[in-house]
Amino acid sequence: MQGDEHVFQMAAFEAGPGEPSPERAIEAGLRPTRLTEFVGQGRVVHDLRVHLEAALQRGEPPDHILFSGPPGLGKTSLARILAAELGSRLHATTGPALERPKDLVGLLTNLQQGDVLFLDEIHRVPVTVEEYLYTAMEDFRIEMTVDSGLHARVLPITIKPFTLVGATTREGLLSRPFRERFGLFERLDPYPAHELAEIIQRQAQIFGLVVEPAAAALLAERARGTPRIAGRFLRRVRDYGQVAQAEVLDLALVETTLKRLGVDALGLEEMDRRVLRCLADQAGGPCALKTIAAVVGETEDTIEDVFEPHLLREGLLLKTARGRMLAPAGWRAIGRTAPAAAARNDGQPRSTSGRVSGAAADPATDRVSGAAADPATDRVSGAAADPATDRVSGAAADPATDRVSGAAADPATDRVSGAAADPATGRVSGAAEDPAGRGLFE
Ligand SMILES: Nc1ncnc2c1ncn2[C@@H]1O[C@H](COP(=O)(O)OP(=O)(O)OP(=O)(O)O)[C@@H](O)[C@H]1O
Ligand SMILES: [Mg+2]
Repeated sequence: MQGDEHVFQMAAFEAGPGEPSPERAIEAGLRPTRLTEFVGQGRVVHDLRVHLEAALQRGEPPDHILFSGPPGLGKTSLARILAAELGSRLHATTGPALERPKDLVGLLTNLQQGDVLFLDEIHRVPVTVEEYLYTAMEDFRIEMTVDSGLHARVLPITIKPFTLVGATTREGLLSRPFRERFGLFERLDPYPAHELAEIIQRQAQIFGLVVEPAAAALLAERARGTPRIAGRFLRRVRDYGQVAQAEVLDLALVETTLKRLGVDALGLEEMDRRVLRCLADQAGGPCALKTIAAVVGETEDTIEDVFEPHLLREGLLLKTARGRMLAPAGWRAIGRTAPAAAARNDGQPRSTSGRVSGAAADPATDRVSGAAADPATDRVSGAAADPATDRVSGAAADPATDRVSGAAADPATDRVSGAAADPATGRVSGAAEDPAGRGLFE
């Protein structure tokens, strides 16, 4: 693509939770580059086709577009595809990288007519910068105030018509005026298994691999509706296949690989089970997100963005006004039995007295022994000795941050080790050192 050399903050733009950098580099090479290669999301692709064609016919840049949806579903891929389909240059940055209005001005004044500006993690654009974006999006103009006091002057700056493509995993955090300035709002949903199988076969072809249809189907079924996860599983099967000198990646090889990876029939991996076990150790909840994050050693954002959506979809976890609760299917998923009080977890908050006495009567001991047996829950052993009410306040009062930062050293968190170093900016700073992101546009 013509404009690749104009991309800003490339490494940050490619950042995301989930995988170390070499994986990211491989993943980047597997991205679909045109709409015809983009599998699934039929409604979104159709909307985009119609809008792009109409805009091209009119000779105007397309309207601003917002993509939302969980990580790994193809938001970044679509942004890149859009620029390619338009034959436009792509500029990319992330919300947190735009610290001051000045950063935005530099970016916007560099745009040429019809360029695409991709703003990833758009929900993290600082409010002060967001306001400047409003006029830029609406009128292709910004007004900078220079000097101050008596000498203050407003300097109008004209911007060439461009298309802003925003991506967010948290559409709910976007302010309404911001959201309303997008002409197209496209939500990506998890993929059905047959589409993931197609994505797996497409990637296998790029690798020059032959995957049995039944093997691809099993991988797809376990990939939690997410192309990124499907791709990661395929690459692990490829490793095992290579070592075993297998010519065809068959069902047996996939079964062995998934078992080694600790992926169960519901597609849960160790970190998902840790989240569930954390709730089980707390008598099934309700449990604050902060506490779960501290116990499993992940940031709250990562728990909410990466792990919870699948747990919620599978009905393993419930979100209530008072915190997260383990659903009956969640207890079964980790092979544990709900104590009598928790068995009533049906999403309806129970009375405080019921919760405390239920927790004190039995699960407290369960929690302590569970914690001793399981390194993941070790860290809560102090809290576990204490009854239910302490779960939240205990974590909030002190150990939360300690535990999170402690977890950075924990191999269990290597999927988000960058993020663990700094919960607020981890995804970006981790990626700043990520050669994978830089390599993309070289
Ligand atoms: N519809 C699709 N067809 C084929 N491959 C896809 C599709 N969607 C995603 N992928 C693959 O999944 C990988 C992850 O997609 P992408 O990076 O676009 O997701 P994302 O939504 O931007 O994630 P994040 O929120 O973490 O930034 C891509 O490298 C690509 O290989
Ligand atoms: Mg992305």
